[in-house]
Amino acid sequence: METLDAIRLRCSLKSKLSGREVPPDVVGAVLHAACLAPSARNTQPWRFVVVRGRAAVDALADAALPESSAVIRRALVVVVACARPADGVVVGGLNYYLYDVGSAVQNLLLAATDRGLATHLIASFDEAAVKRVLRIPDDVRVVVLTPLAWPDAASYEEAAAERLSQRTRKPTEEVVFEGAWGGA
Ligand SMILES: Cc1cc2nc3c(=O)[nH]c(=O)nc-3n(C[C@H](O)[C@H](O)[C@H](O)COP(=O)(O)O)c2cc1C
Repeated sequence: METLDAIRLRCSLKSKLSGREVPPDVVGAVLHAACLAPSARNTQPWRFVVVRGRAAVDALADAALPESSAVIRRALVVVVACARPADGVVVGGLNYYLYDVGSAVQNLLLAATDRGLATHLIASFDEAAVKRVLRIPDDVRVVVLTPLAWPDAASYEEAAAERLSQRTRKPTEEVVFEGAWGGA
């Protein structure tokens, strides 16, 4: 898939997850793409916990995802993106660790889309419960998680069609300024 096609087709598909097995090499390739992301001073602060298999995904969903437990339980793989804020590079008072994790996660989402896998970022979880279930140290923050699942449809495009037809984005003119803030 061309990069721009993956960017265009990526969308959040938690209502379209299937429980079909995702081979470890496919998960590995997607995580490798995540780790190729740029990061401030190349610190690579991201860490990923791969939760694999029915029992492990159920345990995580039941403990930590009160709002999305039912949908996430349909997946057999969930990737949990974490980082230690102390590993982040601070410039001008901004800690760039979240930026770096976000870059890696975006690579992951695009690589998953390229492979035809459905994803859906979730930040609404009980962080203490995620840490307890996955034995994540106290000084590490859980940033976001996503299921990694084959879509429950004949193809990725078919699974994504409805979501993409409802996509809303601010007009470019509202968020891009020519020359100076607010425009010339
Ligand atoms: C950092 C982040 C956290 C998110 N957390 C949730 C969440 O907790 N629950 C949820 O249903 N969607 C969540 N989303 C998905 C967004 O709602 C979704 O990306 C947005 O509506 C745009 O839709 P699209 O991804 O289909 O383009 C999150 C997205 C991001 C980037």
